Amino acid sequence: MWSLVAFLLLPVVWAQTTTIPFVPAQPCPTCSSRNYVGKNNGTLPKATVRKGKVFDYYIEIMMENQDPNIVDTLSAYEAIAKKGIMLTNTFSLTHPSEPNYLASWSGSFWGAADDDFHAVPENIMTMTDLLEDKTISWASYQENMPTDGFTGMNFTQANYVNVSGPPEIYYMRKHNPHILHDSIANNPQRRMRVRNFEDFAADITADRLPQYNWVTSNMRNDAHDTNAAYSSSWLNFWLLPLLEDKRFNRERTLIMVRFDEDATDGGPNKVAAFLLGSAVPEHMYGSVDNTFYTHYSSLSTMEANWGLDCLGRGDTNATLANVFDLVANQIGYKNVDVSDKEITSFGFNISGSTPGPFNPNPDLVTPFPPPNSHAKCPGGGKVIGIQNNGSGHGNGDGNGNGKGSGNESGKGSGNGNGKGSGNESGKGSGNGSGKNNGKGGKGNGH
Ligand SMILES: *[C@@H]1O[C@H](CO)[C@@H](O)[C@H](O)[C@H]1NC(C)=O
Ligand SMILES: *[C@@H]1O[C@H](CO)[C@@H](O)[C@H](O)[C@H]1NC(C)=O
Ligand SMILES: *[C@@H]1O[C@H](CO)[C@@H](O)[C@H](O)[C@H]1NC(C)=O
Ligand SMILES: *[C@@H]1O[C@H](CO)[C@@H](O)[C@H](O)[C@H]1NC(C)=O
Ligand SMILES: *[C@@H]1O[C@H](CO)[C@@H](O)[C@H](O)[C@H]1NC(C)=O
Ligand SMILES: *[C@@H]1O[C@H](CO)[C@@H](O)[C@H](O)[C@H]1NC(C)=O
Ligand SMILES: *[C@@H]1O[C@H](CO)[C@@H](O)[C@H](O)[C@H]1NC(C)=O
Ligand SMILES: *[C@@H]1O[C@H](CO)[C@@H](O)[C@H](O)[C@H]1NC(C)=O
Ligand SMILES: *[C@@H]1O[C@H](CO)[C@@H](O)[C@H](O)[C@H]1NC(C)=O
Repeated sequence: MWSLVAFLLLPVVWAQTTTIPFVPAQPCPTCSSRNYVGKNNGTLPKATVRKGKVFDYYIEIMMENQDPNIVDTLSAYEAIAKKGIMLTNTFSLTHPSEPNYLASWSGSFWGAADDDFHAVPENIMTMTDLLEDKTISWASYQENMPTDGFTGMNFTQANYVNVSGPPEIYYMRKHNPHILHDSIANNPQRRMRVRNFEDFAADITADRLPQYNWVTSNMRNDAHDTNAAYSSSWLNFWLLPLLEDKRFNRERTLIMVRFDEDATDGGPNKVAAFLLGSAVPEHMYGSVDNTFYTHYSSLSTMEANWGLDCLGRGDTNATLANVFDLVANQIGYKNVDVSDKEITSFGFNISGSTPGPFNPNPDLVTPFPPPNSHAKCPGGGKVIGIQNNGSGHGNGDGNGNGKGSGNESGKGSGNGNGKGSGNESGKGSGNGSGKNNGKGGKGNGH
Protein backbone atom coordinates (compact mmCIF):
# COMPACT_ATOMS: atom_id res chain seq x y z
CA MET A 1 0.00 0.00 0.00
CA TRP A 2 2.72 2.41 1.00
CA SER A 3 4.59 1.84 -2.21
CA LEU A 4 1.45 2.60 -4.18
CA VAL A 5 0.96 5.85 -2.30
CA ALA A 6 4.59 6.77 -2.83
CA PHE A 7 4.26 6.01 -6.49
CA LEU A 8 1.22 8.24 -6.80
CA LEU A 9 2.73 11.13 -4.89
CA LEU A 10 6.09 11.05 -6.57
CA PRO A 11 5.17 12.84 -9.80
CA VAL A 12 3.66 15.76 -7.88
CA VAL A 13 6.68 16.23 -5.63
CA TRP A 14 8.96 15.84 -8.61
CA ALA A 15 7.00 18.40 -10.61
CA GLN A 16 7.22 21.01 -7.91
CA THR A 17 10.85 20.68 -6.93
CA THR A 18 12.64 19.79 -10.15
CA THR A 19 14.32 22.60 -11.97
CA ILE A 20 13.22 22.73 -15.56
CA PRO A 21 15.51 25.14 -17.42
CA PHE A 22 13.51 28.13 -18.66
CA VAL A 23 13.69 28.71 -22.39
CA PRO A 24 11.99 31.93 -23.51
CA ALA A 25 10.03 31.71 -26.76
CA GLN A 26 11.01 35.25 -27.76
CA PRO A 27 14.06 37.50 -27.36
CA CYS A 28 12.11 40.01 -25.24
CA PRO A 29 8.44 40.58 -24.31
CA THR A 30 7.97 43.20 -27.03
CA CYS A 31 10.16 41.46 -29.62
CA SER A 32 9.05 39.49 -32.63
CA SER A 33 10.13 35.83 -32.56
CA ARG A 34 10.80 33.15 -35.14
CA ASN A 35 9.43 30.64 -32.65
CA TYR A 36 5.89 31.78 -33.32
CA VAL A 37 4.01 30.37 -36.30
CA GLY A 38 1.34 33.05 -35.94
CA LYS A 39 2.59 36.23 -37.58
CA ASN A 40 1.54 39.74 -36.80
CA ASN A 41 -1.64 40.73 -38.62
CA GLY A 42 -1.70 44.50 -38.24
CA THR A 43 -2.21 46.55 -35.10
CA LEU A 44 -5.39 47.44 -33.30
CA PRO A 45 -6.76 50.93 -33.80
CA LYS A 46 -5.75 53.42 -31.15
CA ALA A 47 -8.11 53.04 -28.22
CA THR A 48 -10.32 55.83 -27.08
CA VAL A 49 -10.27 55.82 -23.32
CA ARG A 50 -13.35 55.60 -21.20
CA LYS A 51 -12.21 56.47 -17.74
CA GLY A 52 -12.98 54.10 -14.91
CA LYS A 53 -13.59 55.04 -11.30
CA VAL A 54 -10.34 53.48 -10.08
CA PHE A 55 -8.52 52.19 -13.16
CA ASP A 56 -8.61 52.92 -16.90
CA TYR A 57 -6.73 49.85 -18.13
CA TYR A 58 -6.96 46.25 -17.00
CA ILE A 59 -4.60 43.40 -17.81
CA GLU A 60 -5.41 39.87 -16.64
CA ILE A 61 -2.82 37.12 -16.77
CA MET A 62 -4.05 33.59 -16.07
CA MET A 63 -1.64 30.89 -14.92
CA GLU A 64 -2.28 27.17 -14.53
CA ASN A 65 -2.80 24.57 -11.84
CA GLN A 66 -0.53 25.42 -8.90
CA ASP A 67 -0.99 25.69 -5.16
CA PRO A 68 -0.58 29.09 -3.50
CA ASN A 69 1.83 27.85 -0.82
CA ILE A 70 4.36 26.91 -3.53
CA VAL A 71 3.68 29.87 -5.82
CA ASP A 72 4.06 32.45 -3.06
CA THR A 73 7.67 31.41 -2.33
CA LEU A 74 8.92 31.88 -5.89
CA SER A 75 10.91 34.92 -6.93
CA ALA A 76 8.64 36.48 -9.54
CA TYR A 77 5.58 36.11 -7.34
CA GLU A 78 7.47 37.56 -4.37
CA ALA A 79 8.49 40.50 -6.55
CA ILE A 80 4.90 40.95 -7.68
CA ALA A 81 3.63 40.84 -4.10
CA LYS A 82 6.14 43.55 -3.16
CA LYS A 83 4.83 45.79 -5.94
CA GLY A 84 1.17 45.08 -5.29
CA ILE A 85 -1.46 43.36 -3.20
CA MET A 86 -1.54 39.66 -2.42
CA LEU A 87 -5.09 38.28 -2.44
CA THR A 88 -4.96 35.42 0.05
CA ASN A 89 -8.54 34.17 -0.06
CA THR A 90 -9.21 33.71 -3.78
CA PHE A 91 -10.83 30.55 -5.10
CA SER A 92 -11.19 28.81 -8.38
CA LEU A 93 -14.73 27.62 -9.19
CA THR A 94 -14.20 24.01 -10.22
CA HIS A 95 -11.90 21.65 -12.16
CA PRO A 96 -10.50 21.32 -14.81
CA SER A 97 -9.35 24.37 -16.80
CA GLU A 98 -11.96 25.06 -19.42
CA PRO A 99 -14.90 25.64 -17.06
CA ASN A 100 -12.87 28.25 -15.20
CA TYR A 101 -12.00 30.07 -18.43
CA LEU A 102 -15.65 29.96 -19.53
CA ALA A 103 -16.74 31.43 -16.20
CA SER A 104 -14.14 34.16 -16.49
CA TRP A 105 -15.88 35.58 -19.55
CA SER A 106 -19.60 34.72 -19.44
CA GLY A 107 -20.10 34.47 -15.68
CA SER A 108 -20.92 30.76 -15.64
CA PHE A 109 -19.14 27.54 -16.43
CA TRP A 110 -22.42 26.12 -17.66
CA GLY A 111 -21.97 22.83 -15.81
CA ALA A 112 -18.81 21.97 -17.75
CA ALA A 113 -16.52 19.44 -16.09
CA ASP A 114 -13.99 18.68 -18.81
CA ASP A 115 -11.76 20.30 -21.43
CA ASP A 116 -13.82 19.08 -24.40
CA PHE A 117 -15.12 21.20 -27.25
CA HIS A 118 -17.77 23.49 -25.78
CA ALA A 119 -19.15 26.56 -27.51
CA VAL A 120 -21.45 28.99 -25.73
CA PRO A 121 -24.25 30.00 -28.15
CA GLU A 122 -24.26 33.39 -29.79
CA ASN A 123 -27.21 34.78 -27.89
CA ILE A 124 -25.49 34.40 -24.52
CA MET A 125 -23.90 37.71 -23.56
CA THR A 126 -20.31 37.93 -22.36
CA MET A 127 -18.02 40.61 -20.95
CA THR A 128 -17.28 41.55 -24.55
CA ASP A 129 -20.84 42.85 -24.89
CA LEU A 130 -20.62 44.76 -21.64
CA LEU A 131 -17.33 46.38 -22.64
CA GLU A 132 -18.29 47.16 -26.24
CA ASP A 133 -21.58 48.71 -25.11
CA LYS A 134 -19.48 51.32 -23.30
CA THR A 135 -16.91 51.55 -26.11
CA ILE A 136 -14.19 50.01 -23.99
CA SER A 137 -11.71 48.30 -26.29
CA TRP A 138 -10.50 44.80 -25.53
CA ALA A 139 -8.17 42.10 -26.75
CA SER A 140 -7.11 38.60 -25.84
CA TYR A 141 -3.43 37.76 -26.33
CA GLN A 142 -2.79 34.03 -26.71
CA GLU A 143 0.80 32.90 -26.99
CA ASN A 144 1.55 30.50 -29.89
CA MET A 145 -1.93 30.82 -31.42
CA PRO A 146 -1.32 30.31 -35.16
CA THR A 147 -3.83 32.79 -36.66
CA ASP A 148 -5.91 35.53 -35.13
CA GLY A 149 -9.22 34.16 -33.96
CA PHE A 150 -8.05 30.56 -34.49
CA THR A 151 -10.88 28.21 -33.54
CA GLY A 152 -9.03 24.87 -33.53
CA MET A 153 -8.72 22.76 -30.38
CA ASN A 154 -4.93 23.06 -30.21
CA PHE A 155 -1.90 23.76 -32.35
CA THR A 156 1.22 21.63 -32.77
CA GLN A 157 4.40 23.29 -33.95
CA ALA A 158 8.15 22.79 -34.09
CA ASN A 159 9.73 22.37 -30.69
CA TYR A 160 11.45 25.63 -29.76
CA VAL A 161 12.73 24.36 -26.45
CA ASN A 162 14.63 21.40 -27.85
CA VAL A 163 15.14 21.87 -31.57
CA SER A 164 15.83 18.17 -32.08
CA GLY A 165 12.81 17.20 -29.96
CA PRO A 166 9.41 16.24 -31.33
CA PRO A 167 6.83 18.92 -32.26
CA GLU A 168 4.82 20.21 -29.31
CA ILE A 169 1.42 21.66 -28.52
CA TYR A 170 1.94 25.11 -27.02
CA TYR A 171 -1.53 26.55 -27.69
CA MET A 172 -4.84 25.08 -26.55
CA ARG A 173 -8.37 26.39 -27.06
CA LYS A 174 -9.39 25.43 -23.53
CA HIS A 175 -7.24 28.29 -22.19
CA ASN A 176 -8.74 30.88 -24.52
CA PRO A 177 -11.91 32.14 -22.82
CA HIS A 178 -12.97 34.35 -25.70
CA ILE A 179 -13.00 31.82 -28.48
CA LEU A 180 -15.16 29.49 -26.34
CA HIS A 181 -18.02 31.91 -26.97
CA ASP A 182 -19.67 31.85 -30.39
CA SER A 183 -20.65 35.52 -30.11
CA ILE A 184 -16.91 36.13 -30.50
CA ALA A 185 -15.77 33.09 -32.50
CA ASN A 186 -18.41 33.68 -35.20
CA ASN A 187 -17.96 37.43 -35.44
CA PRO A 188 -15.05 38.51 -37.71
CA GLN A 189 -14.51 41.91 -36.03
CA ARG A 190 -14.42 40.39 -32.59
CA ARG A 191 -12.34 37.41 -33.66
CA MET A 192 -9.57 39.75 -34.79
CA ARG A 193 -9.25 40.85 -31.18
CA VAL A 194 -8.27 37.33 -30.20
CA ARG A 195 -4.62 37.74 -31.05
CA ASN A 196 -1.24 36.13 -30.64
CA PHE A 197 2.02 37.31 -29.08
CA GLU A 198 3.38 38.65 -32.37
CA ASP A 199 0.35 40.92 -32.40
CA PHE A 200 1.04 41.82 -28.79
CA ALA A 201 4.57 42.85 -29.74
CA ALA A 202 3.21 44.97 -32.60
CA ASP A 203 0.35 46.47 -30.58
CA ILE A 204 2.58 47.48 -27.71
CA THR A 205 5.30 48.84 -29.97
CA ALA A 206 2.67 51.02 -31.64
CA ASP A 207 1.27 51.91 -28.19
CA ARG A 208 -2.07 50.38 -29.12
CA LEU A 209 -2.92 48.09 -26.23
CA PRO A 210 -6.65 48.32 -25.62
CA GLN A 211 -8.23 49.16 -22.29
CA TYR A 212 -8.93 45.53 -21.44
CA ASN A 213 -6.32 42.84 -22.08
CA TRP A 214 -6.35 39.12 -21.36
CA VAL A 215 -3.07 37.20 -21.51
CA THR A 216 -2.67 33.42 -21.77
CA SER A 217 0.93 32.36 -22.16
CA ASN A 218 1.84 29.03 -23.70
CA MET A 219 1.44 25.59 -22.12
CA ARG A 220 4.96 25.73 -20.70
CA ASN A 221 5.07 29.34 -19.56
CA ASP A 222 1.73 29.25 -17.74
CA ALA A 223 2.98 26.25 -15.67
CA HIS A 224 0.54 23.77 -17.22
CA ASP A 225 3.17 21.52 -18.81
CA THR A 226 5.97 22.59 -16.46
CA ASN A 227 5.71 23.70 -12.84
CA ALA A 228 5.22 26.75 -10.65
CA ALA A 229 8.96 27.59 -10.72
CA TYR A 230 8.92 27.64 -14.51
CA SER A 231 6.01 30.09 -14.52
CA SER A 232 7.96 32.28 -12.12
CA SER A 233 10.86 32.33 -14.59
CA TRP A 234 8.48 33.31 -17.36
CA LEU A 235 7.02 36.16 -15.31
CA ASN A 236 10.54 37.34 -14.47
CA PHE A 237 11.23 37.36 -18.19
CA TRP A 238 7.93 38.76 -19.45
CA LEU A 239 5.94 40.67 -16.84
CA LEU A 240 8.50 42.31 -14.61
CA PRO A 241 10.23 44.26 -17.42
CA LEU A 242 6.85 45.26 -18.86
CA LEU A 243 5.91 46.86 -15.54
CA GLU A 244 8.52 49.51 -16.35
CA ASP A 245 7.08 50.06 -19.83
CA LYS A 246 4.65 52.98 -20.00
CA ARG A 247 2.92 51.47 -23.02
CA PHE A 248 1.96 48.49 -20.83
CA ASN A 249 1.72 49.79 -17.30
CA ARG A 250 0.17 53.11 -18.26
CA GLU A 251 -1.27 55.52 -15.77
CA ARG A 252 -4.19 53.94 -13.89
CA THR A 253 -3.48 50.38 -15.04
CA LEU A 254 -4.62 47.45 -12.91
CA ILE A 255 -2.88 44.14 -13.51
CA MET A 256 -4.15 40.86 -12.14
CA VAL A 257 -2.10 37.67 -12.00
CA ARG A 258 -3.99 34.58 -10.87
CA PHE A 259 -4.21 30.82 -11.28
CA ASP A 260 -7.17 29.08 -12.85
CA GLU A 261 -7.24 26.29 -10.24
CA ASP A 262 -5.05 24.60 -7.66
CA ALA A 263 -2.78 21.62 -8.25
CA THR A 264 -4.92 18.75 -7.06
CA ASP A 265 -8.50 17.75 -7.73
CA GLY A 266 -10.21 17.50 -4.36
CA GLY A 267 -7.96 20.08 -2.71
CA PRO A 268 -9.57 23.28 -1.43
CA ASN A 269 -9.09 24.93 -4.83
CA LYS A 270 -7.71 28.10 -3.33
CA VAL A 271 -5.48 29.90 -5.83
CA ALA A 272 -2.66 32.40 -5.72
CA ALA A 273 -3.73 35.84 -6.93
CA PHE A 274 -2.14 39.29 -7.06
CA LEU A 275 -3.11 42.83 -8.03
CA LEU A 276 -0.46 45.25 -9.20
CA GLY A 277 0.13 48.00 -11.71
CA SER A 278 0.01 51.77 -11.49
CA ALA A 279 -3.58 51.74 -10.20
CA VAL A 280 -2.30 50.28 -6.92
CA PRO A 281 -1.14 53.15 -4.70
CA GLU A 282 2.38 52.80 -3.33
CA HIS A 283 1.23 52.73 0.28
CA MET A 284 -0.48 49.41 -0.53
CA TYR A 285 2.65 47.77 -1.93
CA GLY A 286 3.34 44.53 -0.11
CA SER A 287 -0.11 44.49 1.48
CA VAL A 288 -2.42 41.54 1.90
CA ASP A 289 -6.15 41.40 1.19
CA ASN A 290 -8.04 38.52 2.87
CA THR A 291 -11.42 39.17 1.25
CA PHE A 292 -13.08 36.16 -0.38
CA TYR A 293 -12.87 36.35 -4.17
CA THR A 294 -13.49 34.00 -7.11
CA HIS A 295 -13.01 34.32 -10.87
CA TYR A 296 -16.34 36.20 -10.88
CA SER A 297 -14.76 38.98 -8.81
CA SER A 298 -12.80 40.10 -11.83
CA LEU A 299 -16.07 40.55 -13.75
CA SER A 300 -17.85 42.39 -10.93
CA THR A 301 -14.80 44.61 -10.41
CA MET A 302 -14.76 45.67 -14.06
CA GLU A 303 -18.51 46.29 -13.95
CA ALA A 304 -18.20 48.41 -10.82
CA ASN A 305 -15.17 50.30 -12.12
CA TRP A 306 -16.58 51.22 -15.52
CA GLY A 307 -20.28 51.38 -14.58
CA LEU A 308 -21.09 48.51 -16.91
CA ASP A 309 -24.29 46.57 -17.32
CA CYS A 310 -24.09 43.01 -16.03
CA LEU A 311 -24.70 39.44 -17.09
CA GLY A 312 -27.00 38.39 -14.23
CA ARG A 313 -24.91 35.28 -13.62
CA GLY A 314 -21.93 34.64 -11.35
CA ASP A 315 -20.97 38.28 -11.77
CA THR A 316 -24.05 39.30 -9.77
CA ASN A 317 -23.88 36.58 -7.15
CA ALA A 318 -22.87 38.91 -4.32
CA THR A 319 -21.36 36.07 -2.31
CA LEU A 320 -19.13 34.77 -5.10
CA ALA A 321 -18.31 38.10 -6.72
CA ASN A 322 -16.91 40.44 -4.11
CA VAL A 323 -15.37 43.46 -5.84
CA PHE A 324 -11.63 43.81 -5.21
CA ASP A 325 -11.29 45.88 -2.04
CA LEU A 326 -8.90 48.23 -3.81
CA VAL A 327 -11.88 49.29 -5.92
CA ALA A 328 -14.74 48.61 -3.49
CA ASN A 329 -13.22 50.84 -0.80
CA GLN A 330 -12.78 53.76 -3.17
CA ILE A 331 -16.29 53.66 -4.60
CA GLY A 332 -18.20 52.68 -1.47
CA TYR A 333 -19.21 49.22 -2.70
CA LYS A 334 -20.09 46.93 0.19
CA ASN A 335 -18.58 43.46 -0.01
CA VAL A 336 -19.98 40.36 1.68
CA ASP A 337 -18.16 38.72 4.57
CA VAL A 338 -18.00 35.00 3.78
CA SER A 339 -16.90 32.46 6.38
CA ASP A 340 -14.44 29.65 5.68
CA LYS A 341 -17.20 27.18 6.45
CA GLU A 342 -19.45 28.72 3.84
CA ILE A 343 -16.64 28.73 1.30
CA THR A 344 -16.09 25.02 1.85
CA SER A 345 -19.81 24.42 1.41
CA PHE A 346 -19.65 25.79 -2.15
CA GLY A 347 -17.72 22.69 -3.21
CA PHE A 348 -15.27 24.46 -5.53
CA ASN A 349 -13.13 21.34 -5.25
CA ILE A 350 -15.76 19.12 -6.83
CA SER A 351 -16.04 18.75 -10.58
CA GLY A 352 -19.22 17.81 -12.39
CA SER A 353 -21.76 18.40 -9.63
CA THR A 354 -23.18 21.62 -11.05
CA PRO A 355 -26.02 21.05 -13.54
CA GLY A 356 -25.81 22.89 -16.83
CA PRO A 357 -25.87 22.55 -20.61
CA PHE A 358 -22.24 21.31 -20.74
CA ASN A 359 -22.45 18.82 -17.87
CA PRO A 360 -21.06 15.48 -19.06
CA ASN A 361 -23.66 13.55 -17.08
CA PRO A 362 -26.88 13.40 -19.13
CA ASP A 363 -28.90 13.49 -15.91
CA LEU A 364 -27.40 16.88 -15.07
CA VAL A 365 -27.75 18.49 -18.48
CA THR A 366 -30.07 21.48 -18.44
CA PRO A 367 -30.95 24.10 -21.07
CA PHE A 368 -29.08 27.40 -20.98
CA PRO A 369 -30.80 29.09 -18.08
CA PRO A 370 -31.98 32.66 -18.41
CA PRO A 371 -30.01 35.24 -16.45
CA ASN A 372 -31.29 36.50 -13.14
CA SER A 373 -33.12 39.53 -14.48
CA HIS A 374 -33.68 40.85 -10.95
CA ALA A 375 -29.98 40.84 -10.11
CA LYS A 376 -28.36 44.04 -8.92
CA CYS A 377 -25.50 45.00 -11.22
CA PRO A 378 -22.31 45.86 -9.32
CA GLY A 379 -21.82 48.75 -11.75
CA GLY A 380 -25.38 50.03 -11.38
CA GLY A 381 -26.40 49.08 -14.92
CA LYS A 382 -28.99 46.61 -16.12
CA VAL A 383 -28.94 42.85 -16.67
CA ILE A 384 -28.30 41.91 -20.29
CA GLY A 385 -27.47 38.23 -19.98
CA ILE A 386 -29.19 37.23 -23.19
CA GLN A 387 -29.46 39.12 -26.40
CA ASN A 388 -33.05 38.98 -27.58
CA ASN A 389 -33.20 40.34 -30.99
CA GLY A 390 -35.59 37.84 -32.27
CA SER A 391 -33.15 36.24 -34.58
CA GLY A 392 -31.21 33.25 -33.62
CA HIS A 393 -33.87 30.76 -32.93
CA GLY A 394 -36.88 31.59 -34.94
CA ASN A 395 -39.27 33.62 -32.90
CA GLY A 396 -41.15 36.78 -32.98
CA ASP A 397 -44.83 36.52 -32.27
CA GLY A 398 -45.97 38.09 -35.46
CA ASN A 399 -48.12 40.56 -33.62
CA GLY A 400 -45.86 43.51 -33.62
CA ASN A 401 -45.05 43.18 -29.98
CA GLY A 402 -41.43 42.35 -30.05
CA LYS A 403 -41.02 39.52 -27.74
CA GLY A 404 -37.58 38.59 -28.73
CA SER A 405 -36.26 35.15 -28.63
CA GLY A 406 -35.20 34.82 -25.08
CA ASN A 407 -32.90 32.01 -24.40
CA GLU A 408 -35.03 29.96 -26.65
CA SER A 409 -37.05 29.75 -23.57
CA GLY A 410 -39.98 31.79 -22.84
CA LYS A 411 -37.92 34.34 -21.06
CA GLY A 412 -37.62 36.69 -23.93
CA SER A 413 -37.63 40.32 -23.19
CA GLY A 414 -38.15 43.54 -24.96
CA ASN A 415 -41.26 45.63 -24.96
CA GLY A 416 -40.68 47.32 -28.19
CA ASN A 417 -42.49 46.97 -31.38
CA GLY A 418 -41.13 43.98 -33.05
CA LYS A 419 -41.44 43.11 -36.63
CA GLY A 420 -41.81 39.47 -35.86
CA SER A 421 -43.63 37.26 -38.16
CA GLY A 422 -43.98 33.60 -37.90
CA ASN A 423 -43.44 31.83 -34.68
CA GLU A 424 -41.66 28.57 -34.45
CA SER A 425 -41.78 29.08 -30.75
CA GLY A 426 -44.12 31.90 -30.06
CA LYS A 427 -43.07 31.67 -26.51
CA GLY A 428 -41.45 34.98 -25.78
CA SER A 429 -43.07 36.84 -22.99
CA GLY A 430 -42.24 39.10 -20.15
CA ASN A 431 -39.58 41.72 -19.99
CA GLY A 432 -36.39 42.51 -18.52
CA SER A 433 -33.32 40.64 -19.37
CA GLY A 434 -32.62 41.09 -23.00
CA LYS A 435 -30.14 43.44 -24.47
CA ASN A 436 -32.29 44.99 -27.09
CA ASN A 437 -35.29 45.96 -25.07
CA GLY A 438 -37.39 48.30 -27.03
CA LYS A 439 -36.34 46.88 -30.32
CA GLY A 440 -38.29 43.75 -30.07
CA GLY A 441 -37.98 40.63 -32.04
CA LYS A 442 -37.18 40.63 -35.67
CA GLY A 443 -38.81 37.30 -35.99
CA ASN A 444 -37.51 34.82 -38.37
CA GLY A 445 -39.83 31.97 -37.72
CA HIS A 446 -41.92 30.63 -40.47
C1 LIG B 1 -29.16 39.87 -33.83
O1 LIG B 1 -29.74 40.17 -35.10
C2 LIG B 1 -28.82 40.42 -36.10
C3 LIG B 1 -29.61 40.82 -37.35
O2 LIG B 1 -30.60 39.88 -37.62
C4 LIG B 1 -27.96 39.21 -36.33
O3 LIG B 1 -27.01 39.47 -37.30
C5 LIG B 1 -27.26 38.87 -35.03
O4 LIG B 1 -26.49 37.71 -35.19
C6 LIG B 1 -28.25 38.67 -33.93
N1 LIG B 1 -27.53 38.43 -32.70
C7 LIG B 1 -27.82 37.44 -31.88
C8 LIG B 1 -26.94 37.27 -30.72
O5 LIG B 1 -28.77 36.70 -32.05
C1 LIG C 1 -5.57 38.40 -40.44
O1 LIG C 1 -6.79 39.06 -40.39
C2 LIG C 1 -7.78 38.60 -41.28
C3 LIG C 1 -9.02 39.42 -41.11
O2 LIG C 1 -8.74 40.79 -41.10
C4 LIG C 1 -8.08 37.16 -41.01
O3 LIG C 1 -9.03 36.70 -41.93
C5 LIG C 1 -6.82 36.34 -41.11
O4 LIG C 1 -7.08 35.02 -40.74
C6 LIG C 1 -5.76 36.90 -40.21
N1 LIG C 1 -4.53 36.21 -40.46
C7 LIG C 1 -3.73 35.81 -39.50
C8 LIG C 1 -2.46 35.13 -39.92
O5 LIG C 1 -3.96 35.96 -38.31
C1 LIG D 1 -5.73 18.36 -30.27
O1 LIG D 1 -6.90 18.52 -31.05
C2 LIG D 1 -7.34 17.38 -31.73
C3 LIG D 1 -8.59 17.74 -32.48
O2 LIG D 1 -8.36 18.81 -33.29
C4 LIG D 1 -7.62 16.25 -30.79
O3 LIG D 1 -7.95 15.09 -31.52
C5 LIG D 1 -6.41 15.99 -29.92
O4 LIG D 1 -6.74 15.04 -28.94
C6 LIG D 1 -5.96 17.28 -29.25
N1 LIG D 1 -4.75 17.04 -28.51
C7 LIG D 1 -4.68 17.25 -27.20
C8 LIG D 1 -3.38 16.95 -26.57
O5 LIG D 1 -5.62 17.67 -26.56
C1 LIG E 1 15.99 16.74 -27.29
O1 LIG E 1 15.27 15.82 -28.07
C2 LIG E 1 16.02 14.70 -28.46
C3 LIG E 1 15.16 13.89 -29.42
O2 LIG E 1 13.93 13.56 -28.81
C4 LIG E 1 16.44 13.93 -27.23
O3 LIG E 1 17.23 12.83 -27.60
C5 LIG E 1 17.23 14.84 -26.31
O4 LIG E 1 17.51 14.17 -25.09
C6 LIG E 1 16.46 16.08 -26.01
N1 LIG E 1 17.27 17.01 -25.26
C7 LIG E 1 16.89 17.51 -24.11
C8 LIG E 1 17.85 18.45 -23.47
O5 LIG E 1 15.82 17.22 -23.58
C1 LIG F 1 -14.22 19.57 -0.79
O1 LIG F 1 -15.60 19.92 -0.81
C2 LIG F 1 -16.41 19.22 0.10
C3 LIG F 1 -17.84 19.67 -0.13
O2 LIG F 1 -17.97 21.04 -0.09
C4 LIG F 1 -15.95 19.50 1.51
O3 LIG F 1 -16.70 18.74 2.42
C5 LIG F 1 -14.47 19.15 1.64
O4 LIG F 1 -14.01 19.53 2.91
C6 LIG F 1 -13.67 19.84 0.59
N1 LIG F 1 -12.28 19.44 0.67
C7 LIG F 1 -11.32 20.33 0.83
C8 LIG F 1 -9.94 19.77 0.88
O5 LIG F 1 -11.53 21.53 0.90
C1 LIG G 1 -24.43 32.15 -5.28
O1 LIG G 1 -23.63 31.01 -5.50
C2 LIG G 1 -23.70 30.08 -4.45
C3 LIG G 1 -22.69 28.99 -4.76
O2 LIG G 1 -22.94 28.40 -5.98
C4 LIG G 1 -25.10 29.54 -4.34
O3 LIG G 1 -25.17 28.65 -3.26
C5 LIG G 1 -26.06 30.70 -4.12
O4 LIG G 1 -27.37 30.22 -4.16
C6 LIG G 1 -25.88 31.74 -5.19
N1 LIG G 1 -26.68 32.90 -4.87
C7 LIG G 1 -27.52 33.42 -5.73
C8 LIG G 1 -28.24 34.63 -5.27
O5 LIG G 1 -27.69 32.95 -6.84
C1 LIG H 1 -34.43 28.72 -21.34
O1 LIG H 1 -34.65 28.86 -19.94
C2 LIG H 1 -35.88 28.33 -19.44
C3 LIG H 1 -35.99 28.67 -17.98
O2 LIG H 1 -34.90 28.15 -17.28
C4 LIG H 1 -35.90 26.85 -19.73
O3 LIG H 1 -37.11 26.31 -19.26
C5 LIG H 1 -35.78 26.64 -21.22
O4 LIG H 1 -35.80 25.26 -21.50
C6 LIG H 1 -34.49 27.26 -21.72
N1 LIG H 1 -34.42 27.03 -23.17
C7 LIG H 1 -33.31 26.60 -23.76
C8 LIG H 1 -33.46 26.21 -25.18
O5 LIG H 1 -32.20 26.56 -23.22
C1 LIG I 1 -47.05 28.82 -35.52
O1 LIG I 1 -46.65 27.57 -35.00
C2 LIG I 1 -47.72 26.63 -34.96
C3 LIG I 1 -47.20 25.42 -34.24
O2 LIG I 1 -45.98 24.99 -34.77
C4 LIG I 1 -48.15 26.35 -36.38
O3 LIG I 1 -49.22 25.45 -36.37
C5 LIG I 1 -48.59 27.64 -37.02
O4 LIG I 1 -48.91 27.42 -38.36
C6 LIG I 1 -47.49 28.67 -36.95
N1 LIG I 1 -47.93 29.93 -37.46
C7 LIG I 1 -47.25 30.61 -38.37
C8 LIG I 1 -47.80 31.92 -38.77
O5 LIG I 1 -46.18 30.21 -38.83
C1 LIG J 1 -43.32 44.61 -19.23
O1 LIG J 1 -43.13 45.98 -19.39
C2 LIG J 1 -44.35 46.71 -19.41
C3 LIG J 1 -44.02 48.15 -19.75
O2 LIG J 1 -42.97 48.60 -18.92
C4 LIG J 1 -45.04 46.55 -18.07
O3 LIG J 1 -46.26 47.20 -18.09
C5 LIG J 1 -45.27 45.06 -17.82
O4 LIG J 1 -45.81 44.88 -16.55
C6 LIG J 1 -43.99 44.30 -17.91
N1 LIG J 1 -44.25 42.88 -17.80
C7 LIG J 1 -43.54 42.08 -17.03
C8 LIG J 1 -43.91 40.65 -17.05
O5 LIG J 1 -42.58 42.47 -16.36
